[in-house]
Amino acid sequence: MAESENFYRNIFASLVDGILVISADLRVTKVNQAAEEIFQRSRRSFEGESLSKLFPDQPNIIKKARQSITEGISFHHVEGIGYHKSNNGRFPVNLTFSPLIKDDLEITAGAILIQDTSLLKELQENSQQTEHLSTLSTLTAGMAHEIRNPLSGIRGSAQLLLKDLKNNGQREYMEIVIEEVDRINRLIKKMMDLTRPALNDFQPTNIHQVLEEILVLEKGSLEMKEGAFVQVYDPSIPTIKANKDELKQVFLNLVKNAVEASPKGGRVRISTQYNTDYIFRKKQDTLSPHNIVVKITDSGLGMTKTTMKKLFTPFFTTKKRGTGLGMAVSLKIVENHHGKIKVTSNENIGTVIQVFLPVNK
Ligand SMILES: Nc1ncnc2c1ncn2[C@@H]1O[C@H](COP(=O)(O)OP(=O)(O)OP(=O)(O)O)[C@@H](O)[C@H]1O
Ligand SMILES: [Mg+2]
Repeated sequence: MAESENFYRNIFASLVDGILVISADLRVTKVNQAAEEIFQRSRRSFEGESLSKLFPDQPNIIKKARQSITEGISFHHVEGIGYHKSNNGRFPVNLTFSPLIKDDLEITAGAILIQDTSLLKELQENSQQTEHLSTLSTLTAGMAHEIRNPLSGIRGSAQLLLKDLKNNGQREYMEIVIEEVDRINRLIKKMMDLTRPALNDFQPTNIHQVLEEILVLEKGSLEMKEGAFVQVYDPSIPTIKANKDELKQVFLNLVKNAVEASPKGGRVRISTQYNTDYIFRKKQDTLSPHNIVVKITDSGLGMTKTTMKKLFTPFFTTKKRGTGLGMAVSLKIVENHHGKIKVTSNENIGTVIQVFLPVNK
């Protein structure tokens, strides 16, 4: 008898799903270890806790729990929201309600099986995003071909016409045609960058050289605003394995955003650092302990919370002439290099973008 009790106790303890045993007045009488983990609280703190505290504002759950005990019925796949007392957090759950039948066939208690579906939901969302990208990729490949050809015809003809036009007003219109064609071309190129399968021909790359090559390109725009770059480079930085052209694109996008956000006379600081012991705090964020970080700091208009949330969403832009692909493309490239991008921003104070890239030892 003792042995079989032990056996059941072991099952109860080692189930990956949480179990709550509840009394007829819908209070918790027993929990297993998985339930402790799911709710992030100790077994002790569960004792006598009412069900409505664990699943607040969900009369449907209370009703099902009561019904399963009073009428002896089971319910499967009931969706609900669990509550983390420790941090006021909420998480999605999938519940199964069963009556607990005692030896005398009387029902005075019920069991609730709990699956935390946060991870599942996250995976579903991610896979929707990947699906989204793969549809976009098919579309882009087709579009690029179909649009680029006529576009180069339009551009060529406009340029020929421009040569012959004497009237300044007409010339201006023709210049707009060319400018806009170039804009569409840039958009298509960016869409292709976002959706093209990643390149993996990594070569030893000097990050300072990458930065210098792109800062030259953006210097003019910043000087027009009477601003300047401030470079603070860590001389101990080793080379990293990377695709130089792709990294140039990342830093060009980021520096361009910083320049565009800068006010008159604004400084954009570019600093680098070699970390040998930096590990991200969150477990899933663990990055190689040897990494370099490039930090781009502007004292520009900063971002609102809403902008921060959508920052990496393709086509999200707050600019009149933006494509909203700069950050999405940058993230894709950095992730392909097994790196991370970290953003902090304060409205009207400025933005700090940090790009972490691993150093292969
Ligand atoms: N340094 C920054 N300061 C303030 N806002 C920024 C900064 N970087 C990005 N943003 C915000 O994020 C949005 C998306 O940036 P992203 O680079 O993806 O697109 P974009 O700059 O609008 O267009 P594109 O890069 O195609 O020219 C911007 O429109 C802007 O609102
Ligand atoms: Mg941009």
